[in-house]
Amino acid sequence: MDLTGREIVLGVTGGIAAYKSAEVVSRLRHLGANVHVIMTKNATEFVSPLTFQTLSANQVVTDTFQAPEYWNVEHVALAKLAEVFVIAPATANIIAKMASGIADDMLSTTVLATKAPVLIAPAMNTGMWTAEATRENVQKLKTRGVHFVGPDSGILACGDEGAGRMSEPEAIVEAIRDILDVRRDLEGLKILVTAGATKERLDPVRYMTNDSSGKMGFAIAEAARNRGAEVTAVYGSVTAPVPEGIRRIQIESAQELYDTMMHETPDQDIIIQAAAVCDYRFEKTSTSKIKKAEGESLTLTLKENPDVAKAVGAIKKKGQTLVGFAAETDNVRKNAAEKLKKKNLDMIVANDVTLPGAGFNVDTNIAALITKDGTEEQPLQTKRELAEKILDKIIELRK
Ligand code: PMT
Repeated sequence: MDLTGREIVLGVTGGIAAYKSAEVVSRLRHLGANVHVIMTKNATEFVSPLTFQTLSANQVVTDTFQAPEYWNVEHVALAKLAEVFVIAPATANIIAKMASGIADDMLSTTVLATKAPVLIAPAMNTGMWTAEATRENVQKLKTRGVHFVGPDSGILACGDEGAGRMSEPEAIVEAIRDILDVRRDLEGLKILVTAGATKERLDPVRYMTNDSSGKMGFAIAEAARNRGAEVTAVYGSVTAPVPEGIRRIQIESAQELYDTMMHETPDQDIIIQAAAVCDYRFEKTSTSKIKKAEGESLTLTLKENPDVAKAVGAIKKKGQTLVGFAAETDNVRKNAAEKLKKKNLDMIVANDVTLPGAGFNVDTNIAALITKDGTEEQPLQTKRELAEKILDKIIELRK
């Protein structure tokens, strides 16, 4: 793949592998890319900025207070320019800063501000790579869609043996090419994704809900956004961060979800309903806190909520693709297949929420993509990976 004119920002942090990044720059330049290098202060102890300046033919940025000599706009100019933002080598420190949103130097500030895909090539001692804190930080970044290449295993600079060696320049360049080659196959399509849990209020301090975090729905929203779709997320109670770069509508109850969906549905090409909707609400609610009657039990009557997905299915227009989820605990495939029919869906994503690593409030899922033509099993994978598979399947269905 020719990279002529592609804008790549390379962050270099302080590690012995920094010298290998010089070759990354050289290879990228050879393929025609424009490379802009940002070095942390520690990185400059390992390799001189002049090396990167000579190889990239661009001024190297080394700290936040550097005078804007050649880029005469605001300090996040490189964040906006980047088509891919690569950090190689990436220390445990920069990974931790990114995971926490810390912006205390030029590199961490710029990478926090970028909307470009980010690729990290970690390089550190095995103990640091396998430390729980690093594992958690890496997982957090992966969930946000950050790409990783490596690290490789072998003898490390410190003499230890194990995982932690930065990937070879060739592998890093290959990973960059893969990212730049990303499909924009949803361009021109409007996609609405529902996510999170509905809350059904009883009184000002009490409500009924479920464990949905929004992770599954937001993973789909992010993947669809990256593939060029115009995305709307309609979400209830969530603990996962709401993705940037999409239209957001927050609702609370199933009734509010119903009202929103009745309004939004006609304008969408694809609707994916991952929200966990309470099937019931309280028949009677109170505007003041219900007082406890000492020694007496309290009977609450529940009333059926509207079936939103079924209502969306009933007004489905030609050309629209409707996808639902089924959160099941038994007879997973059979129950999901019945919902597929009943709700007039084109596909239902069935997840057995009793399986470890699947369902509510975890970063992974296990699912079956069920259509009228058959079932495709999706083994344990990140919700982001599953999101891509769901979108691939939708594209296939729309052909
Ligand atoms: O958010 P996470 O923590 O990542 O968890 C993800 C998830 C487990 C919530 C998700 O993968 C999932 O399974 N979502 C659907 C949950 C659900 O409500 O399943 P259901 O089988 O009860 O409903 C079937 C479909 O009808 C769903 O698309 C649901 O959005 C919809 N529905 C259900 C009831 C209702 N009254 N109205 C609806 O629209």
